[in-house]
Formats: sequence, structure tokens, C-alpha cells
Amino acid sequence: MKLKYYLQKAKREKWAIGQFNFSTPEILKASVLAAKKMKAPIIVGTSGGESRFLGLNETVAMVKAQRKIWPFVFLNLDHGKLFNYIKEAINVGYDAVHFDGSKLPPKKNIKIAKRVVAYAKKRNILVEAEMDFVKGSSKIIGQIPEIREEDLTNPKEALLFIRETKVDSLAISIGTFHGVAASGKKPDIKIKRLQEIQKKIKKTFLVLHGGSGVATKDIKKSIKSGIVKININTELRATYTTTLKKILRENPEEIVPYRIMPKVIKNIQKVVEEKIKLFGSANRV
Ligand code: 13P
Repeated sequence: MKLKYYLQKAKREKWAIGQFNFSTPEILKASVLAAKKMKAPIIVGTSGGESRFLGLNETVAMVKAQRKIWPFVFLNLDHGKLFNYIKEAINVGYDAVHFDGSKLPPKKNIKIAKRVVAYAKKRNILVEAEMDFVKGSSKIIGQIPEIREEDLTNPKEALLFIRETKVDSLAISIGTFHGVAASGKKPDIKIKRLQEIQKKIKKTFLVLHGGSGVATKDIKKSIKSGIVKININTELRATYTTTLKKILRENPEEIVPYRIMPKVIKNIQKVVEEKIKLFGSANRV
């Protein structure tokens, strides 16, 4: 089955498919093992930085190999900013692309989104777009960004954007930010705004970026109100790094990667399993 089938199923049955970003083979492996164990479809994502580090071709090859372990794994280019890079990702075998034109003037964002859709649709590739910048970055952040009323997605504007561009999915701004607050402060999610957006654009798949560090109850409410895809990155990065540091601190003599990394994979797998459970995507294939 294709990714669109699972997004439609998620919409109908009110659950969400997780997008788990990766920048190392271990993080990818951990997500796939979790998905297999939980019998869940998953999206794995690479941002510009992540895919440039891994290489687009290598990324596709790695995901193809993982599909031998669990076939329900889809690859998305996360926050693609340039048309040519998005085109390249499609050509080498990504299943879906996220064009992020949220920092561009609206007209330009629409123009490029249309161009991406025209290219992607011919090749059966799903397109996610973003109108309103979701602040922060995928790391532990000291000062959480201030999200004002004008930063939130406007339902009427979202409808016009969707009508013009015909994108499949829309990343919306409803209070989340990329990253996790060092203080542990949770983002303030505007559920009412989400419901208003949902009402206006019924068919579009609504995406929640900045999924790390969001309160469990807000994730549940968001899914109930129409979110069908949730992106997670920071919690996986943090687990990778803190586990690795701990192992190296406790075993200063150890130099063999295949003795060091299994624990890292195991800890990330646990995080992904918890998210799959929370998103309601277990046992959906
Ligand atoms: P977090 O890093 O907050 O999990 O956000 C991930 C994301 O939205 C990737 O696009």
C-alpha cells in the first residue's frame, strides 16, 4: 500500500502516522524495529541538513534495505526549500516531499508549491507544504520561541492556499515549535484553531511539526481534531546523544562500534514505540 492509503486510513479512523527523522543508520534502524514490533506504518524523514549529510542516494538505499525488515516504511524529504533539491529527492526515490516555503512571501510560496505539485503528481509523490513558519530548531533550546496570534495558521488563508496549490498535506502552525525546552516547558497548543482549520480544509492531511516535547494530552486532542501526521526529531537526537555519551563515559576503554551502538538503538526504539502507541498507529497494517 502507498503512503496516501495510510494517511486516508488515519484520517478516517482518527490516528496519526509518525514521521521519525534520522541522520544516522542507527536512528533509522531503531524506528524501523519499533514499527515492526508495533505493526505500524511509519514515515522516516530527512531534513536538508540530514539528507545532505547522508546523501540522497544513500538515504534511499538505506530505507530500501530496511523495507526488507518491515515493508511499511515511507521516506519523506523534510523542509525541502529549493525546487531543484526536491526534484532530485523525487528522482532518486523519495515517497513524499515537504516543500517549506514558509519564509517566502506568500505569492512566491504558492508559485513554487504549484511547481512542486506539478512535478510530484506526475510521479505519484505526495506533497506537503507550509505557509506559516514553525519556529525553533530540533535541539534542546534554552529560550522557547514566542508564538503570537499572527504566527498561527489562518483557516481562510489555508483554504485559499490549498485551492491554489492542490498540495496533499499542510504543516500548520498551532503553537508547536521545533525542539524541546531545556526547562521542560510544554508548547501551548491551540486546539480551537486546529478545529477551525480542519473545518475549512476537510480533505487535506494536516501535519503537526515540532512533535517532540508536546504534552500527551495535547497530542491526543490534536489527533482527535484532525492531525494525521506528527513529526518527531529532537527526542530521537537527544536519546542518541545522551545514551552514547553515557556509554562512553562508563566504558572509556571501549572502542568497538558494534558493542557501543546496540544500546543506543534500543533506547531510541523505546522512544519510537511510545510515540507509535500514543499516536494510535500500532496494528494498522
Ligand atoms: P521536533 O524536533 O520538535 O521533534 O520537530 C521535528 C519536526 O517537526 C521535523 O520536521
